[in-house]
Amino acid sequence: MTLPGAPFLERRAGELRLEGHALASLARAFGTPLYVYSRGAMRAALAGYQHALAGRRHLLCYAMKANSSLAVLQTFAQAGCGFDIVSGGELERVLAAGGTAAKVVFSGVGKTRAEMQRALAAGVRCFNVESRGEIDRLDEVARALGRRAPVSLRINPDIDARTHPYISTGLKSNKFGIAHAEALAAYRHAASLAGLEVVGIDCHIGSQITRAEPYLDALDRLLDLVEAVEDAGVPIRHVDLGGGLGITYTDETPPAAGELVGRILERLDARGHGARELLLEPGRSLVGNAGVLLTEVQYLKHGDPAEVAAGDAKNFCIVDAAMNDLLRPALYEAWMRIEPCVRRDARAERWDVVGPVCESGDWLGRDRPLALAPGDVLAVLSAGAYGMAMASNYNSRARAAELMVEGDSVHLIRAREALSDLYAHERLIDG
Ligand code: LLP
Repeated sequence: MTLPGAPFLERRAGELRLEGHALASLARAFGTPLYVYSRGAMRAALAGYQHALAGRRHLLCYAMKANSSLAVLQTFAQAGCGFDIVSGGELERVLAAGGTAAKVVFSGVGKTRAEMQRALAAGVRCFNVESRGEIDRLDEVARALGRRAPVSLRINPDIDARTHPYISTGLKSNKFGIAHAEALAAYRHAASLAGLEVVGIDCHIGSQITRAEPYLDALDRLLDLVEAVEDAGVPIRHVDLGGGLGITYTDETPPAAGELVGRILERLDARGHGARELLLEPGRSLVGNAGVLLTEVQYLKHGDPAEVAAGDAKNFCIVDAAMNDLLRPALYEAWMRIEPCVRRDARAERWDVVGPVCESGDWLGRDRPLALAPGDVLAVLSAGAYGMAMASNYNSRARAAELMVEGDSVHLIRAREALSDLYAHERLIDG
């Protein structure tokens, strides 16, 4: 039996397996908390986009904020992907993983001068510029280096993608992008500057979007602008629709990547823009359901049964992973499926699955019906995106190890952090 939205994850003879590998055995061999990813699942997710784009001028730029571990970047670079980056640190990771700067688009509202200089020197494909202030700063930095910076203006299309408020980005009330109404003037201004070369237009309307319509609405808004900007004498080579396609965490039914791309291409054709280069910046949909977080049950703490039944008390399952390993539940109240790696033949009880961090917000799942015993290994599913990438050392907890499984192989792609790593850059004060 495969699990919803995650074709590389299956339960066979009671054992949860990722790309054929028994997860409980990996947890025993490598310790917990442990992230495990399937390389096959990542490649398959990418292929969904690539097949639909075959024969079209396009560039897929993996939004590496979703999971920036080097071997993940390497996997996508080898498959021909570019990258959407949001910091100088992400650029260095792309280069360290063997990616090429010529396929990098640099997004983000707060690029510093130093980040601009480094990205220009490395030769990124384009800066996705988000404000008038950034247009002027980038022009100045590029001229000082005797360069012309390739720019795309990120337009805020004022589209409601109806996703979580923290991950919705295409509304007027969000901090992102240049307002649609100001875009034409911003393009004229950018085109007049010697340090800039206008190459594209972009937007990003939010994340975990489970319908195609918001993309088509955003595309229409962008194409209206492309036509107006080109009429004003400023050519635009590419249209970048950002990322955001959602995945199945519970019962969501997002369109397949191929279906979404097909509808975007149809709309481009219908509006006479079929020859224009299309860029997309998918993150979550490439890696989310390729990964799990494994954690071992430490203690089971029962509430008074009568109070639990009345909803006045809880049963707590205390595990060895915490909000520092996987922040999404604490930050967004995100629901992520939790499965025992080996099914136990016992009556299920309702548990709040919580970590050891000293915060009541430190939970991974609430009210989950599970049959458990201390020592069991649980898998938090759909954890390949925004899991390890958002991990911290809160409570002086070392960050988890990461494995990539691929066919018969198991690669340790990140060693577990040593406790001494946590304070390696700290200094005592003399005397
Ligand atoms: N491009 C830009 C400019 C973005 O800001 C993002 C995500 C993406 C692409 C990729 O979006 P995706 O395909 O992954 O939805 N930490 C949150 C998600 C934050 C997304 C931020 N921007 C979460 O765990 O749900």
